[in-house]
Amino acid sequence: MRIVHDPGLLDPSAPSVLVPTMGALHAGHDGLIELARGLAVGVGGRVIVSIFVNPAQFNEPTDFDAYPRTLDADAARCESLGVEDVFAPSVETMYPEDVDVQTPPLPAIATQPGLEDRYRPGHFPGVCRVCKRLFELTRCERAVFGEKDWQQLQTVDAMVKGLSMPVEIIGCETVREADGLAMSSRNVHLDGAARERAMSLSAALVEAGRHTDPLEAERAGRAVLEGAGVGVEYLAVRDSVTLQPPAKGRDARVLVAARVGATRLIDNAPWPGFTL
Ligand code: PAF
Repeated sequence: MRIVHDPGLLDPSAPSVLVPTMGALHAGHDGLIELARGLAVGVGGRVIVSIFVNPAQFNEPTDFDAYPRTLDADAARCESLGVEDVFAPSVETMYPEDVDVQTPPLPAIATQPGLEDRYRPGHFPGVCRVCKRLFELTRCERAVFGEKDWQQLQTVDAMVKGLSMPVEIIGCETVREADGLAMSSRNVHLDGAARERAMSLSAALVEAGRHTDPLEAERAGRAVLEGAGVGVEYLAVRDSVTLQPPAKGRDARVLVAARVGATRLIDNAPWPGFTL
């Protein structure tokens, strides 16, 4: 396995599957990498894991500064999972001063009212900008994204389709702790009591899934979160692809974001009927 800082050193002759990350890799990322590994083996290709803490997608400069940088441990984890290349570009490589790395037009999915854009304005433009740049620099055929960030997955998929980019976006099912908590690099900030309360997110998804009326589902899901004393940002039933209010005959999803103390967590599940 190689750690590559210069995209010119990536092998353009072999088909590649990219797993874009910001590092601080944990067991949740293993699922993404293993899925990528399986896809790459099928076509005699390579797995590239990109590690880049993208300043363009942080709302708070302090969050960006505090984001864990653990390249050595991340590289060791990638090596053990059979990754060929860890692509760890500098900010200067991603956003050179003499290149206008534009933010692509934002798909409507990214700005659906009441979801991420309300609480993290500017986040999805930053995500789209970095993903487009990563796809271009790595020349990957496929890219794997976690379903935990459902709105991100749908936004990036819509972006590549809108731009007719030759990249297939693949979703990977959320990896959960035994008690249902979705794995996230933010979970390290949860101490004993906060860890207990964090379980209310997946419990709220299960509760919402017991109701077949969207408003009733949202009310019941929020009640679980409020009962656990977490700060609800949203719990919403939406169309799986457009993230608009659900429509009869189309797949739907229930999405949640909440603050457990200072830690912001998100999760989502198919709706109705989600069980752990
Ligand atoms: O999900 C993430 O870790 C980031 O948003 C991504 C896709 C790596 C872009 O920086």
